[in-house]
Amino acid sequence: MAHIRFRSAVAPLRRNLFTRPATLPTVDRMVADLQPAEPMHCIRPQVLVSTARRFIDLFGAATGGDVLYAVKCNPDPAFLRALYRGGVRHFDCASPAEIRVVRQMFSDAHIHYMHPVKNRAAIAKAWNEFAVRDFSLDSQEELDKILAVTGKAPADLGLFIRLAMPKSAAAYDLSGKFGATLEQAVELLRRARPRAARLGICFHVGSQMMDPAAYEAGLAIAGRVIQAAGVAIDVVDVGGGFPVSYPDMDPPDLRLYMAAIARGVQALDLPAGTRIWCEPGRALVAGGGSVVVQVERRRGDELFINDGVYGSLSDAGVPAFRFPCRLIRRSDADLVAFSFWGPTCDSADRMKGPFLLPADIQEGDWIEIGQLGAYGATLRTEFNGFDQARLVEVVDSPLLATPGHAIAPQLPEMAA
Ligand SMILES: Cc1ncc(COP(=O)(O)O)c(C=O)c1O
Repeated sequence: MAHIRFRSAVAPLRRNLFTRPATLPTVDRMVADLQPAEPMHCIRPQVLVSTARRFIDLFGAATGGDVLYAVKCNPDPAFLRALYRGGVRHFDCASPAEIRVVRQMFSDAHIHYMHPVKNRAAIAKAWNEFAVRDFSLDSQEELDKILAVTGKAPADLGLFIRLAMPKSAAAYDLSGKFGATLEQAVELLRRARPRAARLGICFHVGSQMMDPAAYEAGLAIAGRVIQAAGVAIDVVDVGGGFPVSYPDMDPPDLRLYMAAIARGVQALDLPAGTRIWCEPGRALVAGGGSVVVQVERRRGDELFINDGVYGSLSDAGVPAFRFPCRLIRRSDADLVAFSFWGPTCDSADRMKGPFLLPADIQEGDWIEIGQLGAYGATLRTEFNGFDQARLVEVVDSPLLATPGHAIAPQLPEMAA
């Protein structure tokens, strides 16, 4: 019989890293067996492995470069393990807790600390305890901090200047918080060069970026900075932002993004040996996770469910992402639009959707919500005590296919 874990999903970084989640044949079978009254997090290992392999192959073919998984997107050990099986060896971490989980799981992992603002204790922990050598920064103050903590100019220090990007059309614009202006970046590159064994420039075009040309434009800005600085660069990092499908978002094929990056890199005419990196999060893990929720009450076209914006459906709240849904039982009723209320007492715990589900849905039914491997469980809170969840492995295909990437459902015995 499958081994099921109950856990506080709010603390994935503190869990036992090597406990394997359950392996059950399909989501439907698992619901029939377990009748879950708490949200059920479903991991599709074969989807994660296959998605990582494809991404690494496409990025490698376009640039010869390295793919850093953005751990913040989903630090669950089961997800990390599957990505590692898919070939991921580089990890973009943003905190000592993320670094610890990766270092404990994979002794050969290359860990890069790509949060541009870190406190001194965190830098020291990363450097001394976890042998992290690469740090991003976007200010002179941060450069001073890193040099003070790591000992001025150690032989193996990597420094990556984060460039500000213009406001973007991405679902999540990331232009406001981090990033040096062009002038600041030029100055930082010049100051960092004599201190760095590896000097890089990095940027993020915004998460769920629907326009491949944004990467080419970002690379052109990076090129202007590199030229103005007049110093040798070892790494150009195009960041994350690669999109996945949602019911109302149909992104271009990933190959068009790779082609745009290849064009942008070529236009920079970089010296041979310059490495190209990227830091995908969402694109690697969204399809590999879903959540099964139960309907606790129906009020017209509003469904009260047992997960919400303080749980793994944060993105269904204010940014109002629409997620793919399916009722876990047979129904011939027409699909109609529903909105969701989460389990907490807060009126903000509302997901307006619309979520398309059969008109005869009722209390006690289970719904599977897809594309939640990214920015789902990792955002859960303990608010109102609704932090219990189960974690299981399943063999189903994702609820929404990735354009150009067919993942065949596997036989249960192939899932381990
Ligand atoms: C520095 C950095 N890299 C990568 C990512 C991952 O972005 P995405 O999930 O859009 O690929 C993020 C997300 O916020 C980020 O801040």
